[in-house]
Amino acid sequence: MTGVAVVSGGSRGLGRAVCERLLADGWQVATFSRQPNEFVEQAQDKHAADFHWSPLDARDLGRLRGFARIAQERFGRVDLLVNNAGSLHQELFLTTAVQRMEDLLTTNLLAPMVLAQGCARVMMGGGGGAIVNVSSINAVRGYRGVAAYSAAKAGLEAFSRSLARELGPAGIRVNTLTPGFFDSDMTAQVTADNRDRIRRRTPLGRFGTVDEVVDAVMFLASPQSGFITGQRIIIDGGITC
Ligand SMILES: NC(=O)c1ccc[n+]([C@@H]2O[C@H](COP(=O)([O-])OP(=O)(O)OC[C@H]3O[C@@H](n4cnc5c(N)ncnc54)[C@H](OP(=O)(O)O)[C@@H]3O)[C@@H](O)[C@H]2O)c1
Repeated sequence: MTGVAVVSGGSRGLGRAVCERLLADGWQVATFSRQPNEFVEQAQDKHAADFHWSPLDARDLGRLRGFARIAQERFGRVDLLVNNAGSLHQELFLTTAVQRMEDLLTTNLLAPMVLAQGCARVMMGGGGGAIVNVSSINAVRGYRGVAAYSAAKAGLEAFSRSLARELGPAGIRVNTLTPGFFDSDMTAQVTADNRDRIRRRTPLGRFGTVDEVVDAVMFLASPQSGFITGQRIIIDGGITC
């Protein structure tokens, strides 16, 4: 299956890998991030007809709201939304400033909701689609130092289930992808000791690869998951089982 995909945070990490896979499979992709980088510039050259990137901070909810229309104007429709952009800040809750909590909740919860609303409206006009919300195992288990991030991701999962009920009749499937640790800029700060501890607690004994997470995104975007909605797939090597 191919179509038009909106991917938030497509410049680095998982978002970049999702964009690369979608483009390789023949999709048209509209994405944004705060900064461009080498990948964005190369994709704009190599896939000039099929790749769109905008400079956009997801916390600017007014501009974010319009992004689905930008994708529609460029490519005619939207079939898939991968709500990938996220940000992690680790700090004990008792010292976390309210401004920081607001920032984490805006980036990881409110922005995906606003983008889902814009994309779902366009999808309805096109007869349906799929939304994949990227959560985290922090929504499943408690970990020190990530209370606000965890609250946002748990909220995103609850949002996904209710949205699946609302949008199912319109032919729009909504699912959550819940990864454990995989290597990216976000986890580059994890110390060697903590990496060892995570490996020891993971039944499969390693971090995930970004490609393993992309495989699940592609499954949830595909007709092979055509009767799956309102569900969560946890990809964590078993650390939460
Ligand atoms: N890595 C892990 O182990 C892990 C585990 C569980 C869940 N996750 C989730 O997986 C998703 C992707 O994580 P990742 O590890 O690939 O992260 P990453 O390497 O830090 O990449 C994040 C991407 O999102 C963009 N982004 C961040 N904040 C943004 C904002 N305010 N507005 C627009 N774009 C923004 C970044 O570009 P700019 O900085 O240029 O804006 C970048 O393209 C996130 O939702 C994360 O919570 C990751």
